[in-house]
Amino acid sequence: MAEINAVTKLVVQDGIAIITVNNPPVNALAHVVREGILHAAKQAIADDAVRAIVLGCEGRTFFAGADITEFGKPLKAPGLDEVIGALEASPKPVVAAIFGTALGGGLEVALGCHFRVASADAKVGLPEVKLGILPGAGGTQRLPRLVGPEKAVAMIVGGTPVGAKAAFADGIIDEIVAEPIPGAIAFAHRALAENWPLVRVRDREEKILATRGNPAAFEAAAKSALKKFAGVEAPNACAQSVRNAFTLPFEDGIKAERDLFMKLVTGDQSRAQRHIFFAEREAAKVPDMPLGVKAAPIKKAVVIGGGTMGGGIAMCFANAGVPVTIVETTDEFLAKGLERIKSTYAVSVERGALSQDAMEKRMGFIAGTTDWDVIKDTDIVIEAVFEEMGLKQEIFGKLDKLAKPGTLLASNTSTLDVDAIANATSRPADVVGMHFFSPANVMKLLEIVRGKDSSHQSIATAIAAGKILGKIPVVVGNCDGFVGNRMLARRTTECERLLLEGALPQDVDAVVQKFGFPMGPYAMGDLAGLDVGWRIRKHRGVKAPVSDALCEQGRYGQKTGKGYYIYESGARTPTPDPEVIKLAAAKAEELGIMRRNISETEIFERMFYPMINEAARILEEGIAVRASDIDVVWAYGYGWPVWQGGPCFYADLMGAKKIVEALNHYAELTGDAGLKPAKLLEDLAASDGKFESFKVAAKAAA
Ligand code: 3HC
Ligand code: NAI
Repeated sequence: MAEINAVTKLVVQDGIAIITVNNPPVNALAHVVREGILHAAKQAIADDAVRAIVLGCEGRTFFAGADITEFGKPLKAPGLDEVIGALEASPKPVVAAIFGTALGGGLEVALGCHFRVASADAKVGLPEVKLGILPGAGGTQRLPRLVGPEKAVAMIVGGTPVGAKAAFADGIIDEIVAEPIPGAIAFAHRALAENWPLVRVRDREEKILATRGNPAAFEAAAKSALKKFAGVEAPNACAQSVRNAFTLPFEDGIKAERDLFMKLVTGDQSRAQRHIFFAEREAAKVPDMPLGVKAAPIKKAVVIGGGTMGGGIAMCFANAGVPVTIVETTDEFLAKGLERIKSTYAVSVERGALSQDAMEKRMGFIAGTTDWDVIKDTDIVIEAVFEEMGLKQEIFGKLDKLAKPGTLLASNTSTLDVDAIANATSRPADVVGMHFFSPANVMKLLEIVRGKDSSHQSIATAIAAGKILGKIPVVVGNCDGFVGNRMLARRTTECERLLLEGALPQDVDAVVQKFGFPMGPYAMGDLAGLDVGWRIRKHRGVKAPVSDALCEQGRYGQKTGKGYYIYESGARTPTPDPEVIKLAAAKAEELGIMRRNISETEIFERMFYPMINEAARILEEGIAVRASDIDVVWAYGYGWPVWQGGPCFYADLMGAKKIVEALNHYAELTGDAGLKPAKLLEDLAASDGKFESFKVAAKAAA
């Protein structure tokens, strides 16, 4: 055996050279790996005793892609293209032994091999688009030659990996094997014994010639894949590069791919997406978490309240295969809650997203009861009853009496003080907030609210539970609205003001959508129901003249067919309503507000800058420990476009100085001192500083 370098080994066994790489955690194709593979391949090719080569990995996966931390820095040779070129040019068969996740550059390396075998649970894909780039090591040119440009464009623009079985059916994988390296060795022996021809993927012309002759199906597939990506650079570049695969010779296609890659990787959109990739992983790390704190196991769960949120949370447990029991007040409410869950699953079955079998299996994990005895034997309780402090305190008092020691007691409250809830128990250390977002079975964000007494163990368990449920957990401090809703409240205030001052809902929504949000704030309000905010405002004694008046007229949004917009006969598309403008004008007159034309720039600044200002306060108060945590909250809980990186990332692009100047102007214009820049933002402006500097080096994962 030869150690090629710190991460690469080469063994020759019975005429087969086995190159293995071990670069934890995910065998990213860092410089040392590229160098190792290249040297090992050259050595194996030059060795007369070697008749075939197997390329595989140790650890938990085949190469999961290029090393993303190297992007934006000068490339150190050899590049991936050189490594792939050497493997592809080998006169001896090269077999990739895939397991785990062969993603991005990992799959591109495998596509440079003559053959690919994979274990049955492996996944392969080109997810580069999710990092704001395109496959830059030949993936857009080789994959279409294997699966056809139509399938390739869907896979590359969508970026979603496929399982080994599907990859085998599409011809990406040549064989499914029980063990990757032994399987690849056996495969190589067969290739030699039967003298299989060495056809390079780049030379497989049949499928691209067919598309060249008739590109209509490709163009339809590209259009469909690009539907939701207007204005986003990477998906469009991906589609263009796949198109090049059948319109240009291979070498020209590769060159064009390289040029597009370089343009994207140095651009702001990709920087933003890479920021979110790392921010998401960082968010689950708690800076002061002592080493050695272990999350408690989650084998059984209870959800109190089977309403909108409780039902969704129960589905999350069932989807993860964790038995969950819903506790409701009456059999009737329980039946209603279970029925709602069933019909939500049924819609997925109808859409073909879930099989009937899977649905039944998931329903099998969900039980319901009105008997609180079930609390005695559970690892976690998530309370999701009405948003009333008295009721929540009563429930936590009851939980305290019934739950075994160590059960995590969590509240899904969206506005209430988690400490006040915890104080209703004799074990506040075991209490946290677990703020899911609606619909809970869909939305990825989970704000974990740390009370003043929440123990490290409770936080670690809540993070672990979030991960089991497929969520992205972000630990936040306890305050009104936590991180996300607290910032959103600033935008909502501006929405109301803008209407009074003369802006139209459709104009404001258009500005927010143009930025990349799936929906504008008024359309969103209509979808969620305007009565929700109205009830909260009444409770708090706060007024919003236009929104209150709409609710007083019974205009609650989509559910009543009218809100900020009209929804004709059950339609979900908003139609602007002149009555709303009349109403806003009348309210403005009552309040002595002069209406005027409001520019797109002003709308933009008033939608986004007050939220950035609140983010600064949140950091000042330590409610979020890192600026990037705030970005994760907005990307996964509120639809902030990932290619815009989140509010703090975006603020850094804008520069704090510009934001501070604008906020001072709007504070004067509106007379709202709350719009005055936060101290932290002013400091950033004065020092030309960045939110980016608010990060914590902590590496201790919970
Ligand atoms: N480069 C550098 N670091 C990476 C990485 C990569 N490609 N992929 C993962 N990591 C790091 C993560 O940041 C994390 O670091 P941390 O422990 O310090 O937080 C660690 O590896 C483990 O990652 P996860 O927590 O995500 O581990 P999981 O087991 O949950 O998921 C995975 C594993 C599915 C491989 C997931 O990490 C993933 O999706 N990675 C990115 C895959 C990808 O996008 N590949 C394409 C890269 S771009 C490319 O190849 C360009 C080429 O075309 C030229
Ligand atoms: P909901 O009104 O749909 O459901 C509440 C359920 O709790 C009802 O089914 C009710 O019967 C049940 N319930 C009431 N008292 C109970 C008791 N003593 N024991 C057992 N069950 C009881 O309310 P929703 O929307 O699901 O909200 C629940 C919680 O989630 C609230 O705290 C809310 O603030 C929070 N939340 C709501 C979000 C939303 O968008 N709806 C988003 C995030 C959090």
